[in-house]
Amino acid sequence: MAQWTIQQYLMKGDIALDATCGNGHDTLFLAQTVGENGHVFAFDIQEAACKSTKSLLQENAISDNVSIFNQSHDSLLQYIPPKFHKNIVAIMFNLGYLPQSDKTVRTSAVTTCAALEQSCILLKKGGIITIAVYVGHDGGKQEMDAIQSFVKHLPTQDFAIAHLSYPYTSFPAPELYIIHKRGT
Ligand SMILES: C[S@@+](CC[C@H](N)C(=O)[O-])C[C@H]1O[C@@H](n2cnc3c(N)ncnc32)[C@H](O)[C@@H]1O
Repeated sequence: MAQWTIQQYLMKGDIALDATCGNGHDTLFLAQTVGENGHVFAFDIQEAACKSTKSLLQENAISDNVSIFNQSHDSLLQYIPPKFHKNIVAIMFNLGYLPQSDKTVRTSAVTTCAALEQSCILLKKGGIITIAVYVGHDGGKQEMDAIQSFVKHLPTQDFAIAHLSYPYTSFPAPELYIIHKRGT
């Protein structure tokens, strides 16, 4: 659903950001969507995740239009060159931990909210941020509460917020928040 939503906004030649690249599936999707004239920035705190993303991109013959940073996403403004600030059309957060990996290395409320604050600055008018948040693991509910509080306090004249959940599942399904920056 996050990828489908982004497809409605992101075009060839645009700039995108994957704030949690993990095994690279979302980075690959973003890179294929923006094409060779666009650019994708990808962040992950785990070296193994960055390597995995790089391999997936290579397998798909993509290298030139993606910059991977083995850094925490609470330093987005520091690593993304100023000329791209306010120019990023789509930003994806797929929170939690790297599948089949150490579950204690996962996103957290404090760094996620710091990254979201920076993302709101990096985002181009008319662009969107998608946040997939998992409540089933330790700290997941706390992270979702922090996100909810963050989006609630965004100025409504500048941002529109959507929240999608799947309430009728037997296990806690991920929830999706979408932040749209108003304007053109
Ligand atoms: C659910 S996975 C992401 C899946 C990925 N989008 C994909 O398509 O394969 C979450 C990732 O967030 C990363 N992560 C955790 N804390 C982070 C942080 N502070 N900054 C950047 N990445 C972080 C984890 O290392 C993990 O790889």
